[in-house]
Amino acid sequence: MRILAIETSCDESAVAVLDEQRGLLAHELWSQIDLHRAFGGVVPELASRDHLRRLLPLLRSALEHAGTRASEIEGVAYTAGPGLVGALLTGAALARSLSFGWKVPAIGVHHLEGHLLAPMLETPAPPFPHIALLVSGGHTMLIEVRGIGDYLLLGQTRDDAAGEAFDKSAKLLGLPYPGGPELAQLAASGRPGRYSFPRPMLDRPGFEFSFSGLKTAVLQAVRSAALSDQERADVALAVQDAIVATLCVKALRALEYTGHRALVVAGGVGANRELRARLTREARASGVQVFFPRLEFCTDNAAMIAVAGLHRLRAHEHTGGGIEVRARWPLEQLRPPGMA
Ligand code: KG4
Ligand code: ZN
Repeated sequence: MRILAIETSCDESAVAVLDEQRGLLAHELWSQIDLHRAFGGVVPELASRDHLRRLLPLLRSALEHAGTRASEIEGVAYTAGPGLVGALLTGAALARSLSFGWKVPAIGVHHLEGHLLAPMLETPAPPFPHIALLVSGGHTMLIEVRGIGDYLLLGQTRDDAAGEAFDKSAKLLGLPYPGGPELAQLAASGRPGRYSFPRPMLDRPGFEFSFSGLKTAVLQAVRSAALSDQERADVALAVQDAIVATLCVKALRALEYTGHRALVVAGGVGANRELRARLTREARASGVQVFFPRLEFCTDNAAMIAVAGLHRLRAHEHTGGGIEVRARWPLEQLRPPGMA
């Protein structure tokens, strides 16, 4: 089976072509970061309008790069939620129109299932069951992944997501949006031990996170004195340390609790090098194998939507009816492919 996938849940427009036998044939992406930077965050209306501008050229180049004709596409997957409704609708409308015109089935994919399954594009792919640490701009979750479509949420953040904590701290340090990668870069020249920020919930049992106290602590640090460039880097390092340490401790706790031997790290914050290094080191020490998607498949992309869509289309799952998307969509409502 060969399918086309479309992702438009936030500020990335992406199209991919995935072939069951030959693997990923093309993945095209346009990031709107420059468009939103002046506003310090994603402006939903601008995001929708830009998706409309970008989608057809991306579609054309994905088909070209994949060396495939439209007549060879046997299904269309698109992100149906959760995300910005206007943005989601642009991708859903295109996907359903293609499905109608090409007379092939369409499937609406859960964005987070896409993130969770992105490591299946790599070799070796993670085994089931495993623990997934899903860390993005909107989510921080520890999930027991028993199989495709069989997810048990062990714990999540009570307030800010890890990516949000990176982004808000970065903003306080005067870094441009999105601050996560910028803060990580600044942290590279920070001196360890100069600042120390709270690591909330670490002393409590369970798998919940809380990151909202961090930005208050950072605000106090940057307000208390005019910081030199070196001191700003020291703060950045301490912020990264606090977030990474918290994520590592809780992820290892979930592995110990369930007895699973594999950990998947997914979502945009999974691109953080310090997180990757520390998790790999600590998990290995306790005999656990860690699986990351390649960097470009940590952040939003259509290849991951294609993986999730292919599993469901192959099981004869389709999305019928009108063009529907969901701003909110609990992950635990998903069922294994073919059992929806
Ligand atoms: O998964 P994603 O692309 O979008 C969604 O939120 O769904 O994640 C974006 C988040 C942003 O908060 C961004 O700052 C963060 O991932 N991020 C990083 C890094 N790269 C992206 N955070 C820390 N270090 C990075 N290298
Ligand atoms: Zn995402």
